[in-house]
Amino acid sequence: MRAWAIVVPRGRAEEIRRTLQSQGLLLKHLRIGHEDATILLPVRKRVEIGFPAKEAEFDEGFVAVRSYKDVIEVPPAMRRSLPSSFDVVGDIAVIKIPEELREHRRAIGEAIRRWNPRIGVVLEDRGVKGERRIREIDVIAGERRTTTTHTEHGLRYRVDLSQAYFSPRLASERKRIADLIEEGETVADPFAGVGPYSILISKFRRPRDVHASDANPTAVELLRENVATNRADRVTVHEGDARAVLRQVAPVDRIILDLPHSAMEFLADAFQALGTHGTVHLYGILEAAEEGEKREKIESAARAAGVRVKNLSLRHVRAYSPAKYHTVFDVTVARA
Ligand SMILES: C[S@@+](CC[C@H](N)C(=O)[O-])C[C@H]1O[C@@H](n2cnc3c(N)ncnc32)[C@H](O)[C@@H]1O
Repeated sequence: MRAWAIVVPRGRAEEIRRTLQSQGLLLKHLRIGHEDATILLPVRKRVEIGFPAKEAEFDEGFVAVRSYKDVIEVPPAMRRSLPSSFDVVGDIAVIKIPEELREHRRAIGEAIRRWNPRIGVVLEDRGVKGERRIREIDVIAGERRTTTTHTEHGLRYRVDLSQAYFSPRLASERKRIADLIEEGETVADPFAGVGPYSILISKFRRPRDVHASDANPTAVELLRENVATNRADRVTVHEGDARAVLRQVAPVDRIILDLPHSAMEFLADAFQALGTHGTVHLYGILEAAEEGEKREKIESAARAAGVRVKNLSLRHVRAYSPAKYHTVFDVTVARA
């Protein structure tokens, strides 16, 4: 690859390399060149630092690229705003871009693809919206598609990030829940999305039945496809509102209420749908200071539903924002 080179004497090469690196000018994915008694340091642009500059041919790919930031072209002042992480779903990178970098979003997308050529598409994530929790996204680099196949715990999920919710960040939480399932349980997953809880439970545990459903028809279509692809025989798929499906499949032993912004509204229906005893996993987005109040609300919903709380525990699934956690309450109850 052709790039600008700073030509320095061998004895000063390491010192100048460090200076260029600290200024974000060094192209670290290119291999440093040699010419007679001089060293050629590859840089993003022509710079005046007291040594000659010239264009030169460099070998690529020999140096481990640690981050897409190593191969991006943005003004140095912008570099510190570059996101340090993004999600990868199948072969799609999904990245949130700060407002001040909006005009550089295509450069960010291209850099991610140069950094990892296995990424086929880069999507800008503009937030999950509405009851169906659909991500508002724009393709900023690569193929113009939002579908891919994601592998989680060895299972394959067809996803369409513009049509149905999916996040790879909950993989460990899904495994934690699956590990709790006892042989012969009936489980309801009324906010199933494309099926990552239900299918994992069906494949790795021995439930009697897992009722997976969602109100979003596209999610249900993908869910059916994923159940078939993974031969998740114990999953029964339904389409519709969580309340109606819970009434239809009751009684069950365990219910996964994975709709963090409004799961609480479905708690009474979930308690009604349990048999003589059972567990509800209730997700929420909360500040630590709100946790006590939420506990009280859960206890009061249990009293109103005529069930006795036998165990109520809380876990932080992950940090959601500087002040909030994605939180789960595991609530085990028995009919009073
Ligand atoms: C946060 S997503 C969870 C998806 C899934 N559990 C996962 O781990 O990927 C919530 C899902 O609930 C669905 N949903 C929202 N409101 C609903 C309702 N009233 N009844 C049934 N599904 C609903 C949305 O369509 C969305 O797929």
